Amino acid sequence: MSAADGQKIAMLGAGYYSANTVGAKNVIDKVGDLVVDAVAKMPRPADGQPFAIADFGAADGGTSMDMMRRVVGAIRATEPRRAISITYTDLPHNDFSTLFRLSQGLLGNPTEVPLAETPDLYIFGSGTSFYRQIVPDNSLSLGFSATAMHWISKRPCMIADHVQAVGASAAERELFRAQGLRDWETILIARARELRPGGRLALANFCVDEAGRYLGHTTEVDMFDSFARHWRDLLRAGRISQAEYANATFQQFYKTPDEFAAPFADPDSSVSRAGLTLETMFTMVTPCPYAEAFRVHRDAAAFAKAYVPTLRSWSETVFANALETSRPASDRSAIVDDLYGAYEAEVARAPEGHRMDYVHCVTEIVKS
Ligand SMILES: C[S@@+](CC[C@H](N)C(=O)[O-])C[C@H]1O[C@@H](n2cnc3c(N)ncnc32)[C@H](O)[C@@H]1O
Repeated sequence: MSAADGQKIAMLGAGYYSANTVGAKNVIDKVGDLVVDAVAKMPRPADGQPFAIADFGAADGGTSMDMMRRVVGAIRATEPRRAISITYTDLPHNDFSTLFRLSQGLLGNPTEVPLAETPDLYIFGSGTSFYRQIVPDNSLSLGFSATAMHWISKRPCMIADHVQAVGASAAERELFRAQGLRDWETILIARARELRPGGRLALANFCVDEAGRYLGHTTEVDMFDSFARHWRDLLRAGRISQAEYANATFQQFYKTPDEFAAPFADPDSSVSRAGLTLETMFTMVTPCPYAEAFRVHRDAAAFAKAYVPTLRSWSETVFANALETSRPASDRSAIVDDLYGAYEAEVARAPEGHRMDYVHCVTEIVKS
């Protein structure tokens, strides 16, 4: 792959994503009150217009489904006959089939009435990147997104000796930062077109918080350093080539709260001129459920066996796609299995400090 190539970003399918990302669901449940309050603050759509919701980067939709039920309930509490639409968006190769089956009640909790059976609720899927406009001008009431917009639109370079911008050299990190800031503006301008006046965005994005914490870096153990170390061990052992080593570069950047706020601070910025205002912003840490469970059961092997799959659910494609396509598929899966196997063995041997706490910056944005 060349430095500027895009990366195939994908979560594992067939319900694996939402079943193994309890923490991501906890994040969404925590911002549920903010989202419901945002609904209450919005002017009602004109008669005959739907209350249109979009979930940007929804994966299989499982993690946001309970929150969507709350939002639908909140809208119906004041407007019982208002039509509601939910457009679930993600990249084209996302597992939309699982999303549709979850919302139609063909997967998931069998005791709950399927979301899709809510009267006058219309569910759509769009495989269009959030770097483009997805719904028509002035049509969106509520845009929601969780844990998705750290995926930047392209990698400005490969990181020579790490896997993520947090561990990159200063020069590499600046390239990622510039890409991340440009991408944030692109996202906001597209949403500004989509939102109707008075419409709101409620976004929970990964960040580097005021204390320098970020995903998997809230203790002395750094999750991305661990990935990089085990990947480097495969290079040293001659299992992967230098090019494959560098190819494992996450197409991600974690902004600081100041970087999230910057486009709104300047009244002349394209974002301000598009009518967007930042109403609320705060950071929050959501504890890793696997590490929390370990604090109680103290079984290191069981912790490692439960913890590493949740890391694998969102990171596996980065390592698998870094490998030369000329390798037999069995060889590629053996290398990836060895990577996660080594990580799991490390956690089982020395579990203290390993935890994938989520670190988010929550923003509520209004279109005037
Ligand atoms: C970690 S998952 C989060 C899923 C869900 N929102 C949650 O919070 O559990 C990130 C999702 O963002 C999607 N994603 C990444 N880049 C995207 C883009 N440019 N446009 C739309 N979705 C994107 C990925 O495909 C993935 O499904």
